[in-house]
Amino acid sequence: MGNEAARLELGGNASDYKVLSGTVGPDVVDIRKLYANTGAFTYDPGFTSTASCESKITYIDGDEGVLLHRGYPIDQLAEQSSFMEVAYLLLNGELPSKDKLDSFTRTISRHTMLHEQLATFYRGFRRDAHPMAIMCGVVGALSAFYHDSTDINDPYQRMVASHRLIAKMPTIAAMAYKYSVGQPFIYPDNTLSYTGNFLRMTFGVPAEEYVVDPVVEAAMDKIFTLHADHEQNASTSTVRLAGSSGANPFACIAAGIACLWGPAHGGANEAALNMLREIGTVDRIPEYIARAKNKDDPFRLMGFGHRVYKNYDPRAKVMQKTANEVLERLGVKDPIFDVARELEQIALNDPYFVEKKLYPNVDFYSGVILSAIGFPTTMFTVLFALARTVGWVAQWNEMISDPEQKIGRPRQLYTGATFRDYVPVDKR
Ligand code: SDX
Repeated sequence: MGNEAARLELGGNASDYKVLSGTVGPDVVDIRKLYANTGAFTYDPGFTSTASCESKITYIDGDEGVLLHRGYPIDQLAEQSSFMEVAYLLLNGELPSKDKLDSFTRTISRHTMLHEQLATFYRGFRRDAHPMAIMCGVVGALSAFYHDSTDINDPYQRMVASHRLIAKMPTIAAMAYKYSVGQPFIYPDNTLSYTGNFLRMTFGVPAEEYVVDPVVEAAMDKIFTLHADHEQNASTSTVRLAGSSGANPFACIAAGIACLWGPAHGGANEAALNMLREIGTVDRIPEYIARAKNKDDPFRLMGFGHRVYKNYDPRAKVMQKTANEVLERLGVKDPIFDVARELEQIALNDPYFVEKKLYPNVDFYSGVILSAIGFPTTMFTVLFALARTVGWVAQWNEMISDPEQKIGRPRQLYTGATFRDYVPVDKR
């Protein structure tokens, strides 16, 4: 950590604060004593200038369009690694040997089944319930079934809960889909890969054998890797904040799922595809570009812009390449892919988007691929949550083990009524 200081002059008094340096990225000013020294709070709605924690898991450089997981760039991981290997890397900090990866994958595969009574839990939902609503409910309910892995102070139980969450999310997601289409749940088949197992549970039926298409399996696995973790985004910060109170891991991940659902965050992939379908044809793009620029119109180009990336989202580049591969392999001619590519070109050359540094993000192309594979748009954010569970669990474990972490409790700038006496109703 660095040793220079930052001086704050306030109300005629000066106070100094340590400046800490990471291995890469912006320095931070340690302001933990600021309130005690000055009686003032910092003010940073949306935390645009706030580092909430120290972490070794993911590094993002928004200006350079860089995303590293434990130092490895996302494009290399997406092209050369696998989601299971990336899960191991995020959780443990290093790429595994073949034996360690095999052992980790076997452990995960042994946790893919759900307690049988949870199947009954699904039947309490309406058939037309949004799969994200089901996922929020079912994941939160896991703590009612797996009491033997809720003690967050026991490292062994933390590991078991982490493995259970990573392993059961595909089963939960597939069951949410099956329930919505009125088909029977398909049990996991652990002879398949993590992603192949998920595809079979989702698209397989008891009436016939399901053969995993290796191209679709590879594309899905790559999409999971691209969504695995992303530093202290809104849903990860939600998981950390929930975890800081000592809540059990299943409840914390359910909180993360709820936050991810928002259209400004993980819900953007569903919203982006719905937007592309609404635009429909290339000739209608200018109308929507104009709406996105109109301050009086709440419409935004879904899949564009990012709090951190002020350059191209590196995940979007890999996603566009994968979309090309999958559509070609499946022989899908989806006009919305043409609309997406044309919209991207127009937006990237429009002064409004150039000036505001709005580029396609991870959500812009993912829906085109997921739609081509056969997922309904309502399942898109479920798939994002499935993949992001690995990052949430890794960040949750890091937070629990961090000696500097305490219960998260932000303060506020209060602008409401000051002290006043109660007035009985007959005197108002
Ligand atoms: C994810 O944080 C993460 O890491 C998230 C994520 C992850 O992996 O966890 O990367 C996943 O959530 C990706 C983002 C998905 N969301 C969308 O695609 C929804 C559309 N995008 C916007 O809602 C917006 O860009 C955000 C929410 C993503 C970012 O919001 P910011 O950084 O707070 O940007 P802003 O709202 O301050 O916008 C800056 C300006 C504004 O104009 P002015 O007020 O300065 O005039 O840019 C405009 C905005 O109106 N703007 C857009 C726009 N996004 C921002 N205008 C049109 N279309 C857009 N998409």
